[in-house]
Amino acid sequence: MAKLTIRDLSLRGKRVFIRVDFNVPLDAQGGVRDDTRIREALPTICLALEQGARVIVVSHFGRPKGKPTPEFSLKPAAERLSALLGRPVPLAPDCIGPEVEAMVEALQPGQALMLENVRFHPGEEKNDPAFAQALAKLADVVINDAFGAAHRGHASNFGIAQYVQPVAAGLLLEAEINAFEKSLRSPERPVAAMLGGSKVSTKLAVIESLTRQVDHLLIGGGMAFTFLKAMGRPVGGSLVEEEMLPVALQALETARQRGVGFHLPVDAIIAPALDRESEARVNEGDAIADGWMGLDIGPKTIEAFTNVLNGCRTIVWNGPPGVFERPAFAAGSMALARVVAAHSGLTVVGGGDTVAAVEQAGVASRISHISTGGGAFLELLEGRELPGLAVLTDR
Ligand code: 3PG
Repeated sequence: MAKLTIRDLSLRGKRVFIRVDFNVPLDAQGGVRDDTRIREALPTICLALEQGARVIVVSHFGRPKGKPTPEFSLKPAAERLSALLGRPVPLAPDCIGPEVEAMVEALQPGQALMLENVRFHPGEEKNDPAFAQALAKLADVVINDAFGAAHRGHASNFGIAQYVQPVAAGLLLEAEINAFEKSLRSPERPVAAMLGGSKVSTKLAVIESLTRQVDHLLIGGGMAFTFLKAMGRPVGGSLVEEEMLPVALQALETARQRGVGFHLPVDAIIAPALDRESEARVNEGDAIADGWMGLDIGPKTIEAFTNVLNGCRTIVWNGPPGVFERPAFAAGSMALARVVAAHSGLTVVGGGDTVAAVEQAGVASRISHISTGGGAFLELLEGRELPGLAVLTDR
């Protein structure tokens, strides 16, 4: 790492401001439904506590639009963190101000406090200097472990660096950066990137960037049909972004010029509509008749994609190839999840749906790296500089 990490610092007795991303899904009872992001932040929090730091855990949650809103309280996350750490982590009533400052001052080495949602203040998302300064008053050292929010240039993960130094990467952030570097910056080749999801428009920048970096691009999901239609194939009632047809054709041409293998589905699982699962069947070939829509890749595509993936040393996967939430259209995602999991090279999976597919297949533990980032992961794939990473102090 060219940037400082938590392991470079001596934290004993210091007020260590750990920015995490506890933007986690809740269940109907208001409890944490998926605590992955909390568990993934534990190594950093535990390391700081073991070193005798006075730990301040800081996060955003949801989009409360700058106002204190009970439904966006970090209480459920603080409770889950306490349970996972096996000790109480009190939640401050706010994230700035005299009361919070007093709570931080009262922290003993090896104790942790969690602050309430930074997005309860409009200054967070506006990266307002006064708000960043108010946060900075609480900290001797900043550790950024919020990879999921690294694409945001907000006060608590970016602006604060103007007022406190150093800003070092936490262990999760470091693992995320390393996985990205090893899979796309200096990978073992050949490299395959597998993309899915419904829309070409949301992935166009990713495709453009990946055709500069990978050897093979495998496209599944709804967006494959925009490419197939652009190539003149009949796609029936499948999802197509008509306005993207010329752009899709251009992307295919760019990939060809750059020598990237561009792999599209050669068959599909089709149905008359998403909710008519009982009529689902295999469509041989890539031409789909009117009245039918493609909702998953078919067996020949699974085989073809498997062969490409197994011929590569590195795999990056974002976006499932089918509507895996529905059993009739899950086979493609499940099969490819198992192929990626069984792969002996480096495998990196990111994006909420893709991670859910890998979990549904029961193979998450066999993936080399599962990213905690949604938007942040995509922006890294797009080749953008993320504010939350750029702000880290150089070694
Ligand atoms: C995420 O869940 O992707 C991050 O926490 C960022 O959340 P945001 O899109 O509300 O900024």
